[in-house]
Formats: sequence, structure tokens, C-alpha cells
Amino acid sequence: PEATRIKIKQTPEYRGKRIIIQGWVHRLRVQGKDMTFIIIRDGTGFLQCVLTGKLCKTYDALTLTLESTMKIYGTLKELPEGKKAQGGHELIVDYYEVLGKAAGGEEAFSAKLNAESNADVLYDQRHLYLRGETASKVMRVRSVTLRAFREFFEKKHFNEVTPPLMVQTSVEGGSTLFKLDYYGEPAYLTQSSQLYLETMLPSLGDVYCIADSFRAEKSHTRRHLSEYTHIEAEQPFISFDDLLNILEEMICDVVDYVLKSPVGEYVYELNPDFKPPKRPFKRMEYAEAIQWLKDHDVKKEDGTFYEFGEDIPESPERKMTDTINEPILLNKFPVEIKAFYMKKCPEDQRLTESVDVLMPGVGEIVGGSMRISDLVELLAAYKREGLDPKPYYWFTDQRKYGTCEHGGFGLGLERFIAWLLNRYTVRETITYPRFIGRCMP
Ligand code: 4AD
Ligand code: MG
Repeated sequence: PEATRIKIKQTPEYRGKRIIIQGWVHRLRVQGKDMTFIIIRDGTGFLQCVLTGKLCKTYDALTLTLESTMKIYGTLKELPEGKKAQGGHELIVDYYEVLGKAAGGEEAFSAKLNAESNADVLYDQRHLYLRGETASKVMRVRSVTLRAFREFFEKKHFNEVTPPLMVQTSVEGGSTLFKLDYYGEPAYLTQSSQLYLETMLPSLGDVYCIADSFRAEKSHTRRHLSEYTHIEAEQPFISFDDLLNILEEMICDVVDYVLKSPVGEYVYELNPDFKPPKRPFKRMEYAEAIQWLKDHDVKKEDGTFYEFGEDIPESPERKMTDTINEPILLNKFPVEIKAFYMKKCPEDQRLTESVDVLMPGVGEIVGGSMRISDLVELLAAYKREGLDPKPYYWFTDQRKYGTCEHGGFGLGLERFIAWLLNRYTVRETITYPRFIGRCMP
């Protein structure tokens, strides 16, 4: 009978039918002389394929290796209740071809990637490691999460824009800029698309982008990459409260979407203790956090307390977030530790209308703020930060031609996934992590 080429995900629709599957040999088990079980992987799922009789005795079958590619023909049989592990179906094979035989012996896939491999070997072999079950689950959740963010913005009537990544202005300070030679002129890989998003407000209203941001982070940490996927949004005519509210709503909506999707079960598999966050999130001002650290005896390396005006680094921030153990909207940071573009609090000029979202296990996953909308104030901010206003003329112009109260945020996708899936480091949540000392593969 005719066979239909399908993806493994489609097996429930093809029960009892003759089909063709193409994929990689994920597992292989020879049972006696007359039966071989092959688990095939095609990116949409896993399917157990059963070879019997002379199909087991061909040269190809006898020399089959893990990770070889195959084209397999057979009839789909539903497995009885209780044997539903591999998606509830198995394929009774009647014909197959080995398309690309994977290397064996010393060169075998498993020899390159054994469980004892240290982290460095695993990063060298990342292209192979990504084929593993855990890595592929993480990547699938990442894929659905990206879709969830887009769905959220769509629902809220945002327009998606594609900003330039090669730029001549810094956004988040000079110390983490990657410099590049742009036809003989200095340029940078962007740290954030925020400034460009702001310029799109008069044209498109609420806007967002999903683009890579680059940071020359000079230390090894669990949550810093040199290149990461940044989900950024900007809205005109909003208040600081609106900004805090949309952050909560977005995070809860995205989590809900992922949990209800077919990869929802992976979240609980990889993170059994996961509890979806509930609104409203705890709101805490920076000054309260400084007090919290004092009350809980969290000190700096030199034995003194963090004082108002000082940046709260990763470790104390994590300590506080893990102890409180729920999402926190940490807000109103002092002017001196925040970026030049942030709007000051009307009630206290020492503070900014700024917010970080902190999550247990990771700490900061979002940074956002209201922006300076007044021209004179912005010019003063350039001066305060020692920035030459010239290359920012296009950003400044927004305050000349129809300014408005506006604000937005940036969320690090890798940190979001690390939180959702309880990964030890953001390096596990991206295909090919970039960090100091590694740009390959
Ligand atoms: O707090 P950041 O630096 O804020 C901005 O870039 C703003 N311009 C965003 C905006 O308002 N549109 O970065 C935002 C988020 C952080 O909260 C963090 O999740 C992530 O980006 N992030 C990184 N993720 C991985 N590796 C790094 N080196 C990161 N630096 C920032
Ligand atoms: Mg930040």
C-alpha cells in the first residue's frame, strides 16, 4: 500500500496507516536475533520502530550506529494502555534505508559526549550536545516561549519592529560595549534596542522587538552572556504604574501560554517545584531593599553594609530574591546607579521611575523605566553622564517633535528560561552561548 510521509507528531492521525518517517537513531536495542528496536527522533517527537525477521539481519541493521539518519516505512500500531511511554504508538517496519551512517568506534557519538565530560568539553561539543533530550526540551520550551511573547504583544496591539544592531551610541554605559570597525569608523554591537524603539513610538505607537543584544561582560557568572536575546517593548502615554502592571501581566500570560502548550509538561519535568507566579507581584522600593539587606545581615566583602546609592550586586540580590522566594518588582533606584535616559521621580529627585523584575533562582530578568521626556532634562542628563550629545541627535529629536510620557522595558530571554526551567546557568538556555573565552562553535 501507499505510504504517507509524516512527522512523528502526526502519528495519532495515522493510526493503522502505512507511513514514512525520516529522522535520527536516538536509541537502539537488539533483542535476540529476530527483533531490533530503534527509537527515531525527528525534532517533533520520538517513535519506536520495530524491525523483525530478516529486516534485522541486513548489513545496514547489523552495523547501525546511534545518530545515523534513516528513512523508515511501516504501519503505525497503537500501543496498549500502560505501554504508552513513547507517544502511544510504534511503527511495525516493512522497509528502511540508512541515509547517513554515523561514525562508530572511537569516533562514535557517545564517545564524544559522555556524561563525565567537563563543562568545557560540552561547550566544544555543543553542536552534538544539543541533540540530547534535556537540551532539546529546553530549546523547545524556548521556541514556544518566544511565540508566547509575540502572542501577548499581538493581543495588546503592539507592532513588532526590527532595529539595527550595528550602532554608534551606547545605551547602558561604555564599559560593556563591543567595538567594531565600520568601514574605518568606530561602531558598536548594540547593548539594547531601546533608543531605536523610542523613535518608533510616533509612527507605530506601542512597539516591541526581539533582537540580540551584546555585552562585553568581563567576568564569568551564571547569568551573563556576551550575546543574548532581548525582548524589549516601549509604550507612549503610559504612567509608571502602567509599566509595572504590564510587566506582571506579561509574565503571567507567557507562563500560562507555555504551560498550556504541548511543551508545558517539560516545565514540570525540568522544574518539578515550579509554581506559576500570581498577580500582583510584591512591590519593593530600592530603599526598602537596602534596609532588607541590613535587617538580614547581608554585607559587602569588606564587612560593611550596602548603603543608599550603591548598586546591589548579583549575590546579595539573589540572596534577597531567594529568601523572599516570589517575583519582586524592585523599583525607584537612585539616579546615580541607573542609565542616563531614566525619568526622575516627581516626588523625589534622587530617585528614578525604574524597575527590575527579580525572580527566585536567577534574580533580575527585566530592567525597565519611564524615560526622560523633557528636552532640557535630557540635555542635562547627557552632561551629568559625560555623554557627547552629538551622536544622540536623533534620540534627542524625539523630545523636540511631539514628546510624550513614555516607558518600556527589556527582558533577557535566557534568564527568563533559566528561571522557568530551573537551569543552573543561562548558558544552558541558548543554542550556542557566547561568554568571555568562548565564541565557538
Ligand atoms: O537592565 P538592562 O541592562 O536594561 C536595558 O538594556 C534597557 N535598555 C532595556 C529597556 O528598557 N528596553 O538589560 C535588560 C535585561 C536584564 O534585566 C537581563 O534580563 C538582560 O537584559 N541582560 C542580560 N542577559 C544575559 N546576559 C547579559 N550580559 C545581560 N545583560 C542584561
Ligand atoms: Mg539591569
